[in-house]
Order: sequence, then structure tokens, then C-alpha cells
Amino acid sequence: MEEILEIRNLKKYYTKKKIFSSKSLVVKAVDDVTFSIKKGEVFVLAGESGSGKTTIAKLILKSIQADSGKIIFESQEIDEQKKNLQKIKMNCQMIHQDPYDSINPRMRIGDIISEPLEIHNTENKEQRMKRVIEVLQEVKLEPAKEIIGKYPHMLSGGQRQRVVLARALALKPKIIIADEPVSMLDVSIRAEMLELMKQLQTKYNISFIYITHDLATAKYFGQRIAILYLGKIVETGPINQVLESPKHPYTQALIDAISEPDPNNIHKVREIRIKEPTGKDISKGCRFKPRCPYAIKQCDVEPDLEKVGDKHFSACYVKLD
Ligand SMILES: Nc1ncnc2c1ncn2[C@@H]1O[C@H](COP(=O)(O)OP(=O)(O)O)[C@@H](O)[C@H]1O
Ligand SMILES: [Mg+2]
Repeated sequence: MEEILEIRNLKKYYTKKKIFSSKSLVVKAVDDVTFSIKKGEVFVLAGESGSGKTTIAKLILKSIQADSGKIIFESQEIDEQKKNLQKIKMNCQMIHQDPYDSINPRMRIGDIISEPLEIHNTENKEQRMKRVIEVLQEVKLEPAKEIIGKYPHMLSGGQRQRVVLARALALKPKIIIADEPVSMLDVSIRAEMLELMKQLQTKYNISFIYITHDLATAKYFGQRIAILYLGKIVETGPINQVLESPKHPYTQALIDAISEPDPNNIHKVREIRIKEPTGKDISKGCRFKPRCPYAIKQCDVEPDLEKVGDKHFSACYVKLD
């Protein structure tokens, strides 16, 4: 598989003014993040709220400017030239967490889906309508000819998220960034939506960046994963390897937080009691140190990602099994 997208040393810091103080706080939303995605691969970005997942998505789509770093799509750096921006915006589509964020409630479904086709001026009106019907059928919103005339409020939450998926598919993108696409949906329909995304991903060999804090769906959908902690990748590798044999204490804690203790596997159950984030977590050294039960003196110097297995990397000095 060839690489379709490369993200190199991406950084985005925000300066927040503190209330009741003249000092300001620097939030390292994305702090030197590097990863790449192959054609047709599903790459998962996982981490708690505030770890920088959405910021990475926005940086890739150039909807916000990076402080530094490179985005390389099909071996070409996406700089500020109009033709390059156009290229990434046509080939890389985003599905937002909240369908209400990305669809205009005053527009009919048919217009919502054909809008990206119009913006990129790719086809005439008749061809656009044909494509709209086609993608509505792809996402199993039928009868498509009825759906196109409806408004978003006439649909259920699950149907609206299918509209968002249809809109993302309209331009036949090579990459879809799905930012917690099922987290706002009713639990009962999450599996259906994920299954549909997986089917379409396989059928069209679309590369996906699947953003989630839910490791169970990550495992179902993804092939490789990166675990983000306060803007930095702390562990990355093949998804089964990372989730079955996590090496970073933060990854282990995330997994323990979701898994049911298995009585047959009692020796594997780790009791990691990580502390709550303090808000001033990044002092110096490892950013997980203030919450880490294994922290040692060496952790005052920030660890780099180191090889811990086949294509598996972790940024931790303490070698856990
Ligand atoms: N426009 C912004 N201004 C200031 N801080 C921001 C802005 N966007 C994001 N942040 C901060 O950057 C960090 C990462 O945010 P985000 O990428 O939304 O995380 P996630 O998607 O993983 O929940 C958070 O601390 C957030 O408060
Ligand atoms: Mg987010």
C-alpha cells in the first residue's frame, strides 16, 4: 500500500488569557505530531476530550493554519497555493460529530448534498442530481427521490448523520476524516452507522481517519491507531497490538477504563489509578507524568517514541508488559 497522506511535525498552540490575571496560558493543542496513512487504510486517532483530535483534523483540511509542520497529500506538500488547497478540499472530506454543525437546517437534503459538487463546479445540474440520488442510495436513505425534498428536522438523528456521510461521499473523496461520527447518536443505531461506513470504506477503498475516544469501535473499524495525550502521540501501531499489548501507561489506563474485568484473565487486569488532569499538566518532561503511577526521575526529560514491537512505538521510559 502506498502512502496517501503524511503529517509531519505538525504544531498548533493557542494562547489563552487567564481570567483575573495578566498572565496567559499556552495550550499546546497539537505538539509535534507525525503520522502517515496508506491508501485504503483506516487510521484511528484516539484520546480523551481536549487531546487535540479535532484540531489535527482542522489542520489537515486547512480550515485552520498550523504554527509549523507539513501536510503532504499524494507526495505533494499542501501549501497555501490555491490549486493545492483545492486539491485537499476536494479529496479529503470531513464528517463532524454533530450533524447539526455541518448541515444547514434551512436547506433541503438534495441541496445540502449537491452543495460541494456546486462549489467545486464539477458537473452540470442534471449530473449533480444524479450523483445526489446515487449517494443517498449508497447510504441507504430511500426512497431517495422523496428524501431530497425534505428538510433536516424531518429526519431522525441517524438519518441526518447518513446525510452528512452522503455529502462527504458526493465528490468521491480519497480520504474521509470522521470526527466522532457516532458519539451523538443513539447507542442502538451506532453499530449500523459504523457498519455502513465500513462497507463504503471497503467498497471504494477510501482512506479514513477515524477520530474517537471509544476504543471498542476503534478496534472494529481501524487497522492502525495513534493514542494522543495533550497534543502528543504517546503510542502508535497496529490496532490489535496496541490494544492487546499496550505499552504506555496512558493507553493501559484508557483500556482499563472501558474493559470489564475478565475472571479467567485476572492476572492481566491492571489497576492503574490515574489522577485527574490538573490543567497545568505540561510543566516539563513527560506530559503524562503528573498523572502517571510509574513516574521516575528520568521522566523530567520528555520521552520520544521508541520501537517496542513490530511497527509499534511508545513514548515511555518505563518498560511495562
Ligand atoms: N480556537 C481555540 N482557541 C483556544 N483553544 C483551543 C481552540 N481550539 C481548541 N483549543 C484547545 O486545544 C485543545 C485541543 O482541543 P481539540 O482539538 O478540540 O481536542 P479534542 O478534539 O481531542 O477534544 C483543548 O485544550 C482546547 O481547549
Ligand atoms: Mg473533538
